[in-house]
Amino acid sequence: MAEPGVCVSVNGPSLTFQNIRYTVQERRNLCTCSGEEKEILKNVSGLMKTGMNAIMGPTGSGKTSLLDVIAGRKDPRGLRSGRVLVDGQLVTAELRLSSAYVVQDDILMGTLSVRESLLFSANLRLPQRQNSSSAKKQRVESIIQELGLQDCADTKIGTEFLRGVSGGERKRCSIGMELITSPSLLFLDEPTTGLDSNTANSIMALLHRLSRSGKTIIFSIHQPRYSIFRRFDQLTLLHKGEIIYAGPSNDTMGYFQSL
Ligand SMILES: Nc1ncnc2c1ncn2[C@@H]1O[C@H](COP(=O)(O)OP(=O)(O)OP(=O)(O)O)[C@@H](O)[C@H]1O
Ligand SMILES: [Mg+2]
Repeated sequence: MAEPGVCVSVNGPSLTFQNIRYTVQERRNLCTCSGEEKEILKNVSGLMKTGMNAIMGPTGSGKTSLLDVIAGRKDPRGLRSGRVLVDGQLVTAELRLSSAYVVQDDILMGTLSVRESLLFSANLRLPQRQNSSSAKKQRVESIIQELGLQDCADTKIGTEFLRGVSGGERKRCSIGMELITSPSLLFLDEPTTGLDSNTANSIMALLHRLSRSGKTIIFSIHQPRYSIFRRFDQLTLLHKGEIIYAGPSNDTMGYFQSL
């Protein structure tokens, strides 16, 4: 495993967010729609570089909100100030196409197999004109290889009534569905929550490997064990909607000790 902080040889996109203030309207009265404005992100700024960028903080500190705002998934009406730049440019629809977002609760069709799910994603996302159906199938096979899903490729995802793939395989399938378009920017909300420590480790090893091929991986995570923490390059620590630390993850202890 590469040591933390070691430069990634291939450069991917860098994402900057500046003076982000995000608020939501808390509806007290359903009839008049009146309510108070609640500030969720309080003037936060930061930089995410090629590699592993972790966002940590206690529950309710604004991790998912920050991830959603920088990925452009939040209602823009709540954005009071700030902007998000990728490689110094304002995010356009085209730029958004080169990014992908893996949500915390996987949304998968239980009656499809892993291979069928990936093909479904390929058919929806890869433009028909540039990608023949055999090219799409090839892309699916390479994702199966890359994510080590060979043994469960033809297993159904599963539902409450139908036993299917394991939790880790399910998460890898969700990640694979997003990787179909070869995004250079990948957002993940709590990719390890609900997984046992060994599976969590293998998911993070996969993300680490992807980051080394020049991808910018940005994720929120809860209580990672040290072997996982070691894989982070950059850490953003949130507390009540404010950033209390942002920088190389291996400098975190030194920073807090120096205070
Ligand atoms: N639409 C909304 N309306 C009201 N409050 C909201 C809304 N969205 C987020 N919040 C509040 O903003 C705060 C931050 O929420 P967020 O989901 O970003 O936290 P989090 O750090 O991801 O927490 P967790 O670790 O539990 O996932 C929370 O207090 C939450 O209740
Ligand atoms: Mg969250």
